[in-house]
Amino acid sequence: MSTLKQRSLSLIIIVFIALLVWCSCLKPCHARQGKQYYHKIASTDKLGGGSTANSAIFNVLHYGAKGDGRADDTKAFEAAWGAVCKVKASTLTVPSGSVFLVKPISFSGPNCQSDIVFQLDGTIIAPTGSASWSSGLLQWIDFTKLERITIKGKGVIDGQGSVWWNDSPTYNPTEDLEESKSGKMQGTKPTALRFYGSNGVTVTGITIQNSPQTHLKFDDCTNVQVFSVSVSSPGDSPNTDGIHLQNSRDVTIYGSNLACGDDCVSIQTGCSNVNIHNINCGPGHGISIGGLGRDNTRSCVSNVTVRDVKLQNTLTGVRIKTWPGGSGSVQNVMFSNIQVSEVETPIKIDQFYCDKSKCSNETSAVAVRGIQYKSITGTYTKEPVHFACSDSLPCTGVSLNTIQLKSVQERQQLSGPFCWKAYGVLETATVPPIDCLNSGTTVQTKSESC
Ligand SMILES: *[C@@H]1O[C@H](CO)[C@@H](O)[C@H](O)[C@H]1NC(C)=O
Ligand SMILES: *[C@@H]1O[C@H](CO)[C@@H](O)[C@H](O)[C@H]1NC(C)=O
Repeated sequence: MSTLKQRSLSLIIIVFIALLVWCSCLKPCHARQGKQYYHKIASTDKLGGGSTANSAIFNVLHYGAKGDGRADDTKAFEAAWGAVCKVKASTLTVPSGSVFLVKPISFSGPNCQSDIVFQLDGTIIAPTGSASWSSGLLQWIDFTKLERITIKGKGVIDGQGSVWWNDSPTYNPTEDLEESKSGKMQGTKPTALRFYGSNGVTVTGITIQNSPQTHLKFDDCTNVQVFSVSVSSPGDSPNTDGIHLQNSRDVTIYGSNLACGDDCVSIQTGCSNVNIHNINCGPGHGISIGGLGRDNTRSCVSNVTVRDVKLQNTLTGVRIKTWPGGSGSVQNVMFSNIQVSEVETPIKIDQFYCDKSKCSNETSAVAVRGIQYKSITGTYTKEPVHFACSDSLPCTGVSLNTIQLKSVQERQQLSGPFCWKAYGVLETATVPPIDCLNSGTTVQTKSESC
């Protein structure tokens, strides 16, 4: 009798579990059947008054933007942002076929809704008259304190930087009459597009060109995705970094063409878990970590992967640069499958970086450890490998695997490889032979916790 009771009880339990499994499967099973399910949900939500994905589109033209490349469209962009900011997952549209003159502007949270999309298909240009720029302003287009923000589209952000690159800006007849025509541009050159203090930032499709200074900057951001982006400015435009990262974590940059006058990607203090792949760089200064530790500051960078990158006619290929006198560390860095073509110095670590005329002798340094180079191939124009490490804190854990670098002048090795206080392993034979690397490890006297 008791066994029968037990049996029927277990049967009930089995049926109950089966029912549970079936129910929990319902949603995803329906979802998998296609779009219809989502439409249903969307319309139900709409009836209920809730906002839904892409439910609201705000076009800057409906907020008074002229888009003729001459009228000041700043107020229209601000008004459109005011509207888009209030609606979760809404879209601000900058339509194609128009050119919008926009003065320095901040698309600012933190009281905005999340998941906003900035659909950029038109062109946004910066003012070229000094009157539009208040002194000390660090950026032109600024997105701050946002949760999941996307900029996408086929559009262009043009900083019209040439007026900043030369010391005396030239008279620009197309400039708005209200603008000062003869004034010198402020001393600080602004970044074209900056994201600050945001989580879940995506930038895709767009072109950013001719920035007065850095083209695209992320500061204090997490979960950043940049892909299919173009950066374009002349190779001789000063300090025009492509993408600049600072105090940011979990960043992926891929599938992009970066051509500029300074570092294609610059990874600064406070960055970790940075993944860069399938990038074309050049002209430019290469892909750089640092300069770190300027003015005796503490700098930490870790977990950086740079792979499947092509560099052409750049100053350096993959580089780590730290200022004498700093502290902190750069560690766990992997450079792999890097193809260089006519690059001055493809592989470089410089712990004596100093772009002031004179740097004092310092014993403190930003530690450099755990740096892997794997499959770095192509041609150089000056020196294949340059490791200049600190006497007090030598570089450790430098590993080299499949390095094949040829001088552009056939059969003539120009100079180097150069190593000073660099410790590590040659995992394979290299071309040219890199005999100067000290084998094994040295104890880094100070343990730099980051
Ligand atoms: C770097 O990666 C290691 C190993 O994957 C991980 O344990 C560590 O937390 C990472 N560091 C940071 C700062 O995220
Ligand atoms: C810097 O350090 C080097 C080597 O330790 C020493 O020879 C030189 O005199 C120092 N220079 C200054 C300006 O302290």
